[in-house]
Amino acid sequence: MSTKSGTYKGHRFHGDPIRFEVVANFIFETWKRDIKYIADVAGGRGMLSRLLNKKFNYESTVIDPRGYSLVGVSNIKEEYHLEDASYYDLVVGLHPDQATRVVAESALVTNTLLIPCCNFWNKTTPLNTNELINEISKYYDDNNVKYEKITLNFSGPKNIALATFRN
Ligand SMILES: C[S@@+](CC[C@H](N)C(=O)[O-])C[C@H]1O[C@@H](n2cnc3c(N)ncnc32)[C@H](O)[C@@H]1O
Repeated sequence: MSTKSGTYKGHRFHGDPIRFEVVANFIFETWKRDIKYIADVAGGRGMLSRLLNKKFNYESTVIDPRGYSLVGVSNIKEEYHLEDASYYDLVVGLHPDQATRVVAESALVTNTLLIPCCNFWNKTTPLNTNELINEISKYYDDNNVKYEKITLNFSGPKNIALATFRN
């Protein structure tokens, strides 16, 4: 995660806290009203879901075994599994750590937005951010997944996103 930390709406976060607003805005600009149900995989405290629900009227649920999301944010205190993907119009993984691969695999089922943080993709080979993005992109290419790579406007280097699109 980015080394910059800070406070957002009275809550302290590791990494650049403006990421929640940037990602929520990006989701609305990209998918608008074509989506409704969102899985905020590894959503931690749920600030992204809170913004998606309050600002854009989506139905976003945090799925995270920590189960410590902010009051009022819908959350499922479990690990996310690929079998869950078909229920959602969009599966988001914002710095999803151990859930990185299953978010990428969800691209075979539904729309996804993956902003990987650390190398939870290849346990044997160290990968920096660009190498990690390239490996996930290769997985999408190999599986004929339509995707776009976007640099989001918050503190890097963990600000590279891969958005995938199902018809
Ligand atoms: C680096 S934190 C990111 C939290 C939040 N998305 C953010 O940007 O602040 C990673 C989160 O991944 C969650 N996590 C790890 N494995 C998971 C899994 N298999 N399914 C869902 N969440 C998982 C952890 O509990 C942790 O809250």
